[in-house]
Amino acid sequence: MKASLKACDVVIFGGGGDLAMRKLLPALYHLDQDGLLAKNTRIIGASRRDMSAEDYQAKVREALDEFVPKSIGDEKTWPRFKERLSYVSVDAQQESDFARFNEANVGADDKDVVFYLATSPDLFGSICSSLANQGLNQERMRVVLEKPLGRDLQSSRAINDEVTQNFGEKQIFRIDHYLGKETVQNLLAIRFGNTLFEPLWDSAHIDNVQITVSETVGVEGRWGYYDKAGALRDMVQNHLVQLLCLVAMEPPGRNDADSVRDEKIKVLKALRPIEGANAYTKTVRGQYAKGMINGKEVKGYFDEEGSNPESRTETFVALRADIDNWRWAGVPFYLRTGKRLGQRYSEIVIQYKSIPHSIFNDESNRQLQRNQLIIRLQPEEKISLTVMNKVPGAGEGMNLQPVDLNLSLSEAFHNKRSPEAYERLLLDVMRDDATLFMRYDEVEAAWKWVDGIMAAWNQTSERPKEYASGSWGPAASMALPIKDGRNWHDY
Ligand code: BG6
Repeated sequence: MKASLKACDVVIFGGGGDLAMRKLLPALYHLDQDGLLAKNTRIIGASRRDMSAEDYQAKVREALDEFVPKSIGDEKTWPRFKERLSYVSVDAQQESDFARFNEANVGADDKDVVFYLATSPDLFGSICSSLANQGLNQERMRVVLEKPLGRDLQSSRAINDEVTQNFGEKQIFRIDHYLGKETVQNLLAIRFGNTLFEPLWDSAHIDNVQITVSETVGVEGRWGYYDKAGALRDMVQNHLVQLLCLVAMEPPGRNDADSVRDEKIKVLKALRPIEGANAYTKTVRGQYAKGMINGKEVKGYFDEEGSNPESRTETFVALRADIDNWRWAGVPFYLRTGKRLGQRYSEIVIQYKSIPHSIFNDESNRQLQRNQLIIRLQPEEKISLTVMNKVPGAGEGMNLQPVDLNLSLSEAFHNKRSPEAYERLLLDVMRDDATLFMRYDEVEAAWKWVDGIMAAWNQTSERPKEYASGSWGPAASMALPIKDGRNWHDY
């Protein structure tokens, strides 16, 4: 990675909150440790609480002790990092409080400024207008917006209208942390850094694509938030749809923000709407019941604190998406994600077509499997390609067997630490590179598609199907590809 050469003030609204402590500050710490922060880069926590810079530094230190693995934490970086940390107490709804940023010299001496809005989206508009009133919306100043960017097209537009009154599109960085994951970027390297794959990347060679993001966690004490969202809004509208775009887009002319995003938006516009009765055949919703995960009994969705038994919010969704364009005609994209499933893993599977004709005898034929390219995002980062191979041995004749060609990133680059998604994304904001961020038209197109599914669900009296925690979701989700003569790839 190239360093963020220009010094920058990074202001984190919600600076004492969970996201800041668990993800943002550890990510900034790692960047500092890797020598990627410019000398005068400062990090300024901002929230309503009254706190001195020393109190904030102590709080951050505690978080680093908890969230930065010991093996990569070091005492050399901390004194430098601590010096960078300060704190400004602001009530996001109290315009006059924002004068404190100027008192703290935020953006003085022509420094770039990143305002990271790790707050509820209800506050995005008022924060941006109060910043503008202090002159803190100049071209060299940027805002980072955390999800959820609305709960449907209408509310997302409202947020965008408010923010764009004071910041231009080029200054707005809408984050989807999945785009910062190493293997997601590696997907681009695989597709566009090799001659091998791209000529076979179409409906003539690919049978189907599967994107799975499976979690073992439940709603983890945030029932109130989660119940207003559900898996479709919380995961599909952003993370899974973004992955689908990167798999399905045409090769961009260049790896820069507009070229990549121009290609992604074409995919989003080509997504076939899932509306009305189609929602029954193309989607499956589920809600987790109690069960066992890793040998431990876990609660059902309705036993979680603050739950309401009337809720119809889905904690699992599986669906078949179709892309109506020349390249992908007839190739289903199966997407699924859920909480409290059997394993935590995320992967993209490119399932190639069967060979057109087999020259092998019957016994080997039975073992002929189709090639698969698997891009695993987590828990481990790896890419593997399944190819058919001859079983060694003179007595084996031409018996074939599938063998995985594995590229484990940790093994191939064993002296390189794999950065967390937020490290890459924070560095990109500081470098003013928006390639891995969502442009507004993408967010809007994704909401439009998801709103259609939501509307179809709301028209029915059917509840989401129950599934036991620790399972792979409702049985109906297994049947989704089976109806088309296909199967989910097993973990
Ligand atoms: C967040 C969702 O965006 O992504 C969470 O709001 C989810 O519900 C999380 O748990 C998953 O992220 P990761 O990186 O742990 O797969």
